Amino acid sequence: MIKQVPDPVLELHNLTVVYESKPALWNVDYTIPENHLIGVVGPNGSGKSTMLKALMGLVKPSSGYAHVYGKEIDEVRQRIAYVPQRNSVDWDFPVNVFDAVLMGRYKANNLFRRVSKADKEIAMEAIKKVQLEPFVKRQISQLSGGQQQRVFIARALAQEADMYLLDEPFAGVDAATENSIMSLLKEMNANGKTILVVHHDLQSVKDYFDWLLLMNTRLIASGPTEEVFTEDMLQKTYGGKLNILSRVVEIIEKQGHPIREK
Ligand SMILES: Nc1ncnc2c1ncn2[C@@H]1O[C@H](COP(=O)(O)OP(=O)(O)OP(=O)(O)O)[C@@H](O)[C@H]1O
Ligand SMILES: [Mg+2]
Repeated sequence: MIKQVPDPVLELHNLTVVYESKPALWNVDYTIPENHLIGVVGPNGSGKSTMLKALMGLVKPSSGYAHVYGKEIDEVRQRIAYVPQRNSVDWDFPVNVFDAVLMGRYKANNLFRRVSKADKEIAMEAIKKVQLEPFVKRQISQLSGGQQQRVFIARALAQEADMYLLDEPFAGVDAATENSIMSLLKEMNANGKTILVVHHDLQSVKDYFDWLLLMNTRLIASGPTEEVFTEDMLQKTYGGKLNILSRVVEIIEKQGHPIREK
């Protein structure tokens, strides 16, 4: 099930990425409409992070292309905030929380513009939104994993982008923090932002996302969550590797989690 839409904000066309002669993404083709909260789901090594990097132009496709807002990424980079998977970041970089978040205010094409008072206020606002005020002066290397994750989310917020690409923002984050970040994302989505989140917890997929991409090197499905999140599709995505998976949909149905209304 791959639902194609007119005027997509994200478009991958026959995109293939190969690392050292092994494909990480194979002929992925999808379009995503504006203003959705999109989940990206698939097993480890299924190309989820690679797909985000391809969207950001950080890996070069062997064939095909990725367009964001109908353009090459370089033309719209400032409108896109990207939060990489936490383990791929050098946390020893000597910078404190405030300055790390303030980096969200630097424009890609104007690194030497002076930071204004307004920039600092926006950075502080973002820090408050993720409840990191007590740590503003702390070096990022001296934060817990969940706090580090929130620094990156605050930096993305400070950028005031139109689209947010978040690679496993809830990995190693406690339930309370996950809830507060999710409320923030839902609020941003209600204010017109497009947000794409790589996510592993199948239990919360229906609550969190109204559009879903299922991946396993190939794209298995793309469409509204209620159409895509089925036992059959999950089996195709995980290849029967997880037996309990066959029951996840059933269990979730029984719990009666509502599909988020738009
Ligand atoms: N820089 C690289 N060089 C070589 N192979 C790579 C590189 N980065 C990723 N790969 C391989 O490409 C495949 C896809 O990796 P990717 O990181 O996109 O998966 P993922 O779906 O994000 O997995 P996870 O859920 O573990 O984060 C994997 O087999 C991985 O080993
Ligand atoms: Mg990954």
